[in-house]
Amino acid sequence: MDKKWWKEAVVYQIYPRSFMDSNGDGIGDLNGITSRLDYLKDLGVDVIWLSPVYQSPNDDNGYDISDYRAIMQEFGTMEDFDRMLSEMHKRGIRLVMDLVVNHTSDEHKWFVESRKSKDNPYRDYYIWRDAKEGKEPNNWGSCFSGSAWKYDPQTEMYYLHLFSTKQPDLNWENPAVRKEVFDMMNWWCEKGIDGFRMDVISMISKPEGLPDGKIPEGGLYGDSGCVNGPHVHEYLQEMNREVLSKYDLMTVGECAGVTIEEAEKYASADGKELSMVFQFELVDLASGTYGKWTDKRVPLKDFKRVMTAWQTELEGKAWNSLFLGNHDQPRCLSRFGDDSPEYRVVSAKMLATCLHMMQGTPYVYQGEELGMTNAYFHKLEDYKDIESIQYYTELTDAGLMEPDYMMKCLMLRSRDNARTPMQWDGSEKAGFTDGEPWIKINPNCKEINAASQLDDPDSIFHYYQKLIALRKEKDIIVYGEFEPLCREDNQIFAYMRKLDEERLLTVCNFSEQSAEFEVPVEFEGSRCLITNLDRKVFKGKIVLKPYEAFVLYK
Ligand code: GLC
Ligand code: CA
Repeated sequence: MDKKWWKEAVVYQIYPRSFMDSNGDGIGDLNGITSRLDYLKDLGVDVIWLSPVYQSPNDDNGYDISDYRAIMQEFGTMEDFDRMLSEMHKRGIRLVMDLVVNHTSDEHKWFVESRKSKDNPYRDYYIWRDAKEGKEPNNWGSCFSGSAWKYDPQTEMYYLHLFSTKQPDLNWENPAVRKEVFDMMNWWCEKGIDGFRMDVISMISKPEGLPDGKIPEGGLYGDSGCVNGPHVHEYLQEMNREVLSKYDLMTVGECAGVTIEEAEKYASADGKELSMVFQFELVDLASGTYGKWTDKRVPLKDFKRVMTAWQTELEGKAWNSLFLGNHDQPRCLSRFGDDSPEYRVVSAKMLATCLHMMQGTPYVYQGEELGMTNAYFHKLEDYKDIESIQYYTELTDAGLMEPDYMMKCLMLRSRDNARTPMQWDGSEKAGFTDGEPWIKINPNCKEINAASQLDDPDSIFHYYQKLIALRKEKDIIVYGEFEPLCREDNQIFAYMRKLDEERLLTVCNFSEQSAEFEVPVEFEGSRCLITNLDRKVFKGKIVLKPYEAFVLYK
């Protein structure tokens, strides 16, 4: 068992635009974050992953970067950043920065140069191709709808953008690009940051010759095949030699399309590439013809199958990251739990128990620790997210989805569900801002907010605080081996953890019905470490209440 600080850590993700506004312009900022560090210290997290704060025209809320070494004006200055970092370190909290290097903004000086002429020194920093029979160079679709190619009249060629037209893909085959990226990363490391979360890093290496991809049934565009491309591991090993190995960092790769086998390469225990990856198998469950745009819920049996596979198959080979939500996903309580007034609190605690007792590094997305729910905006004009707006238009214009149904899908799956402002208190602006917030505040801030939960010892906040503290107390929660129990049960997710002579049993009822469970004899007389209800006796056959969860230890 190879001990590492980042295996023992709990990470909190901040989406800066929506976390805390310090100057009344309705946009969260760095000074806002600094002002709330004591709250995070109190929660007990050890690492903050900060979504991008670099200079950006905000076509995709900061994931389109025009200067990697400058802070976005709306968020503050480099001095504000330095102060924030030092205040984090004073509290023993480490900082992981978002690294967005699959693409830049089209306003980045490299692209501004690149598009000027075919012989510009920056031309080859991006991926340019001639038209094919008067059309796009191939059939690839962008992840944000539409073609992945944009025609640029200046040089009469197309450039590749796997995301928005304002996010041209960098050409990683060019050694000069890799050197620029590594220099920039070293620059941030020298500033004293503690790691990187690497945006869509599994897509940086494009398939040889950029061939047409398979068009899924009912779809409009071909799959780019850029996921886990031919040189991605080479590039990451080079990055590791040039940057990562020189510092004591935590790194996590956002790896859409990663399989367990691939994850063993990205995050292998020999440390040649990254510390861990975000897998998408779980959050992509129950996808429909148009990917995430469906109203299907994830059946528990699939949830269990995927979680169990990652837990058992990475054991001893690579490290897991544990997450149910982030800024690209709907609120996990709304998606996997039950956000109705009756079951909101108990099901939020149950989900947290299930995730935090597993092996891996848990991630808490801002507001999750309060049980924040989806926004359920039902008017298109309330949505700000480029992906939501573009897909709504593409799918309804093409007659592929009924507008009402597509709106329902947005309410369930739009990224904006996770991007409404943090609910600090029950006032009109939720304590987030004194001005007009950039996106609507969820009106349920009156019932769901930090101020009231800090005062309530039974709140979701205090439950998370306890789960995080338990992880610090018990090595078995971090390092113990995972063993699934009652695999065929359609209501209960139960598993055991084992470390030498110690044993930990986690039992979660995922349904709104009561459910039977037989406590294994070896847990008779064991101690209950945490539960979301008030059961006292854990022996023989018991009947769990809706969404009940508990953890036994011996
Ligand atoms: C990642 C980010 C997402 C962004 C996309 C393009 O998936 O998490 O927010 O839109 O990459 O950078
Ligand atoms: Ca502000």
